[in-house]
Amino acid sequence: MPTEDERRTVRLTAGGPMLVQGPVRIETPTGEVVESDRFLVAICTCRRSKAYPLCDTSHRRKRRMDDRSDEPST
Ligand code: FES
Repeated sequence: MPTEDERRTVRLTAGGPMLVQGPVRIETPTGEVVESDRFLVAICTCRRSKAYPLCDTSHRRKRRMDDRSDEPST
């Protein structure tokens, strides 16, 4: 049983990545393994990242385009 200090925090963000305390070892459904020693690792949940499974902020581009679709057409 992990102690309170050993517990990792996983934070889900709205429309963005899953933030996980590092270091981490990520195993994808295709069997690829990606490791990161960063203090906080952003894991892509939108599948648009060119660095998948790591977030490259591509999710922001989609959101901006979605925002434009809400604008009235002229
Ligand atoms: S969540 Fe950031 S690129 Fe997918």
